[in-house]
Amino acid sequence: MFKLAMNSLFRKCQSSNFTQVNTGYGGVRVRHSKKYLLGVMLALAQPLLTSCSIFDQNTSGSDLDSRLREQTQNVVALSFEPKGQAGLDRLKQDRTQEFCSTQRAFKGVASAENALDPQSPQNNSISQLTEQLRLENLALIQQPKDSNYVGDFKRGELIAQDGRGKTWTDPQGSANGGNCYNCHRLSKNEISYGTLGPSLYQYGKLRGISSLDVYLNKVKEGASDPLIQYTWGVLMNSKAYDLCTVMPRFGVTFNASAHEQNSPILTQEQIKDLMSLLLDPRSPVND
Ligand code: HEC
Repeated sequence: MFKLAMNSLFRKCQSSNFTQVNTGYGGVRVRHSKKYLLGVMLALAQPLLTSCSIFDQNTSGSDLDSRLREQTQNVVALSFEPKGQAGLDRLKQDRTQEFCSTQRAFKGVASAENALDPQSPQNNSISQLTEQLRLENLALIQQPKDSNYVGDFKRGELIAQDGRGKTWTDPQGSANGGNCYNCHRLSKNEISYGTLGPSLYQYGKLRGISSLDVYLNKVKEGASDPLIQYTWGVLMNSKAYDLCTVMPRFGVTFNASAHEQNSPILTQEQIKDLMSLLLDPRSPVND
C-alpha cells in the first residue's frame, strides 16, 4: 500500500523518480506498522503535491530535486529496519546508483527541448560523467584467477533458476542464486520467465558457436576472444556496458566503504557455470 501510494504521488508529478538501492533480492525488512506508514505518507503528501505545481511551471527544479531526493531518502530510511545480513547500509547508493537515480528523475522533469539537444552543456557533461562511471565499473571486473572461463552448464541452469539469497533469513556467506529467469528467457523447456531483459535462448549458437570444436577453441583463447570477454564482463558487472541497466552487478564488490557485509552476489565459480550455460553447444540454452 505504501509503495502504491508513493508511486501514485510521484506519477502525479510526472517524474519517474526511481531510486536505485542495494536491496538485492530480499531487500531489508519493511516495518509493518500501517498507521506509521500512513502518517509518513500524509506528512509527505503536502510538500510533494505542492512541488507538482512547480514542475508544471517548467522551472529547472534542481533545488527542488535535491529536496525531494532528501525527503525520499528519509522515508526510505525510516521504512526499513535491519535484520540478519540485510543491514541498512544497503540503502546507501554508490556513485553509479546515485547518478542513475538522478538521471531518471531528471529525464522525467527536464523540458523536452533540453533533453533532446546533444549540444547543450548540461547534456555534454552528463555523457562525460556516464562514460567516466562506466569505466569505473569496467575497472572492477576481474578475470578468472586460473584463466579458465567456463564450468558446468548443468550447475549453471540450477543457478539461473535459483532466486534465493542475501535476505535476512539466509545465513551470512551462504550461496546465492542468479535469478536469471526472472528477467530472461534461457532454455526452451522453461516456460516461466520474465522479459525485462532480452531472450538469451540460443545465446551461443546465434553468436557463431556452431560446434563443440568452435566452443573449445573459444574457451582456449579465453581472454583474447571477444565473445568470451564480453559475456564474462556482462555477468561480472553489467554496468560496465550499460551504466544504468537494471541487471544486477553479479560478480563485483562496489561501494565497499558503505557496505559492512558487502560481497558479490555470485562467486567466480558460479559465473563460470553460467558462462557454460550460455555458450556450451550441449547446454539447453543452445538446444
Ligand atoms: C533484473 C533483471 C535482470 C536479471 C535478474 C538478469 N538480467 Fe541479464 N540483462 C538484463 C537486461 C535489462 C539486459 C539488457 C542489457 C542492458 O540493460 O543494457 C541484460 C543483458 C544480459 C546479457 C547480454 C545480452 C546481450 O545480447 O548482449 C547477458 C549475457 C545476461 N543479461 C545474462 C544474465 C544472466 C546469466 C543472469 C543471471 C545470473 C541475468 N542476466 C540476470 C536484466 C537482467
